[in-house]
Order: sequence, then structure tokens, then C-alpha cells
Amino acid sequence: MSLSLIAKSIKPSPTLKLNEKFAILKEKGDPVIHLGGGEPKSKAPMDAMLAAIAHINTGEVRYAPADGIPALKQAIIRYTEEFYERKVRPENVIASSGAKQAIMVALQAILNPQEEVIFPAPYWVSYPDMARLIGAIPVPALPEDGTFYPSIKDITDRVGSYTKVVIINSPNNPTGAMYSEDFIAEVVEFCEKKDLWLIMDDIYHRLIFDGRKPINCYKYAKKLDENSKIILINGVSKQYAMTGYRIGWAVGNKKVIEAMANIQGHQTSGPSVILQKAAVGALNGIQSGVESLRATLENNRNVMISLLNSFEGVRVTKPDGTFYCFADFSAYEKDSNKLSEFLIDKVQVLTVPGKEFGLDGYLRLSYCGSIKDIQEGIERMKWALDPNSPNELYIGDRKLVRDWA
Ligand SMILES: Cc1ncc(COP(=O)(O)O)c(C=O)c1O
Repeated sequence: MSLSLIAKSIKPSPTLKLNEKFAILKEKGDPVIHLGGGEPKSKAPMDAMLAAIAHINTGEVRYAPADGIPALKQAIIRYTEEFYERKVRPENVIASSGAKQAIMVALQAILNPQEEVIFPAPYWVSYPDMARLIGAIPVPALPEDGTFYPSIKDITDRVGSYTKVVIINSPNNPTGAMYSEDFIAEVVEFCEKKDLWLIMDDIYHRLIFDGRKPINCYKYAKKLDENSKIILINGVSKQYAMTGYRIGWAVGNKKVIEAMANIQGHQTSGPSVILQKAAVGALNGIQSGVESLRATLENNRNVMISLLNSFEGVRVTKPDGTFYCFADFSAYEKDSNKLSEFLIDKVQVLTVPGKEFGLDGYLRLSYCGSIKDIQEGIERMKWALDPNSPNELYIGDRKLVRDWA
């Protein structure tokens, strides 16, 4: 079949594929544990649910403006003032169907085919394919010092005449690393000096631990007017546990936001009004759910890290935020795809291979589920991988017998 070159260059989203696999196994009644998830298990805020229902009850659900309804823009403006001490105008804001679409239309608005986009590795699985969708070139920057914390040199070393954009995601999916304030300052200053676009993917910025405070990239920017080339991304998916509502946003200069709205207008039109109203409810409503989610995740992280630390052969860096940890399993198996397959086949634990995030030998493990799942999941993995494990393991009344070395 003669599919386009772009279609042929794109892989399915590995995390969405895993969710499908999980649903199939669960449906079959298998005792599968999902440590590959990308969404909190808490409920959406009541204010969000009520706002959506109230709008449905009007019986009039119509098209929304391509760049978002005024009430959501106002809520985003207030959010930007609260967390970024920056007053923006409605023309500087676009609401999209998830942070994913906001990033995609931003890239479409600024990148030409063959131009390059740099982002630290390990990276969120979608960045490379988003670049490829435009015919642009993804340029991952793996920190040279072997940590998950890039230095400015890791970025600047990869800048060439085709570089147009840098994407920074901190705290980071998949490592949970929150980059230092100094690094963010250096990136902002460097991008301004070189006249590069800077996409700050702040989707996890409030889900941080150990008393850390969210970092405000604008603090280090000199261009704070309509010449600013920072595009700030955020959304309700993670912090409000509203992944299925599909509302994210971008804040940027008037021209780029207008271009993004034009593109989005032809792609999907504005996001559903019902879901935008729900996002307004979440942003303007009672905020205690965000802190309680953050505290739960911090506790879950502590449990997962202490279990992994007692796992001989696994090396792990304590995440500073998000709900992911990226652990080095290469002592057991260097091919992370093989290892992930092995774990699902032998002990029904779902993990995401590090290769998908640009670093083989690692697995991404999520701690957004229950403590019980975290404990049992890691226990099963340990049983499967540790050659000194007893020969048998019971999962409920199922007996598993080791038939591998
Ligand atoms: C780093 C990062 N950016 C953006 C997104 C997309 O979020 P949304 O659900 O708002 O599209 C995700 C989702 O997993 C993510 O991990």
C-alpha cells in the first residue's frame, strides 16, 4: 500500500499500545499489574465534573473557538500569574486537546522540514515522532556525565545551523528528574542569545517532592514582550488527574499563538466545550486535590525506591517529581524490549522499555497506582529476575514455576 513517507516514519505510541495490551489481559481475567501507566488513579475534582455536567444539561453543546473559550483563557491567565508571575493577555493563550496537541501545533507553527529540535534524553516518547510528523529532525541530547541531569553543554554541543527549537520537560518523563534552577536559567539565556524557540513542557511542574518548588522559566528571560520565543506548555491531565478530558494549553507570543490557532482550527477546531468547562472548574475550584495527589505520589515514590534499592542488580536514581522512575536493569538484560516482554509473559507485570525513551537497558516504572500494586509488582519482578529466588511463586491461587535460568 502506498502510504506517505511521514506515515511510514511514525511508530505507534508505545505507552498507548501497552495500555491496550493491559486492557486485553485484564479482560481475559489475568492478574496483570500495570507499572507502565501514565495517569494518576485519583478522581477528577468535583468542580470539574459539575461544570461539565452543567454544560451538558444546557442541551446546547456547540463548536468552540479554535483557540479556546474565554472562560478557560481567563483561568489560564490567572494560573500563569499565580505560578509564573506573568500577566498575559487572551491573545497569548491557546487551549488544545491535551498538552500533546498544544506541543504538536506549536512545532507545526515554528518548524520547517529538515530543521532540528533538540531535547534532553531520556525523553518523552512523543517528541521524536512529533518532529518527524513535520518532516523535521529530532536531536536527543543524552547527558555526557551519565546522569539524568543535562548540562547546558549537552544542549549547546548539538546546536547547528538547522537548530530551531529546544524542548525542556522538567520534572521529566521518564526519569522524574527535576532540572536545576541554574540549568533552566542557562537554557533560557542561551535560547534568547541564539534566537531559538524554547518549549517548556511543564505538565508535571506541581508534582514535585522533598519540599521542592516549581521553577519559573520567565524569571530568567530578558524578552518578556511579544518578542519572547518561550512557549509554555501545561494542562489538567496530570495535576488534576484529568487525562481523559484532553485539555492542555500553551502560552506564547501573539503571533505564534495565532499561527497555532489557525493550524488547530483546521485540524480539530477548538477542544470540546464540555471539557473546556471542566478544565475551568478544575483551575478555579478547590485546589486541595493537587496537594493530596502530590503527597500520595511522594509516598508511593518512597515505597518504590526502597523496594528497588533492595533489588540487587538494579540501579536507580530517586525521582524528584512526576510519577515515574527510570531504573537500570542492564545487569539482568541489556535489551529493554526483551526484558519488558519477559516480565509481562512470566509474571504479568507491565513496564515500559527504556529504549522507547532513548536509553536501552532501563525500564520505566510508574508509581501512580496503588501501594499494593507497587509492592506486588516489584516482588514479582524480583522473583522472575533473581536467580536465587525460590522455585515457585503464588499469584492468588495460581502457581508459577521457574522454567528459566
Ligand atoms: C512530558 C509530557 N508532555 C505532555 C504530555 C501530554 O499530556 P496530555 O495528556 O495533556 O496530552 C505527557 C503525557 O504523558 C507527558 O508525559
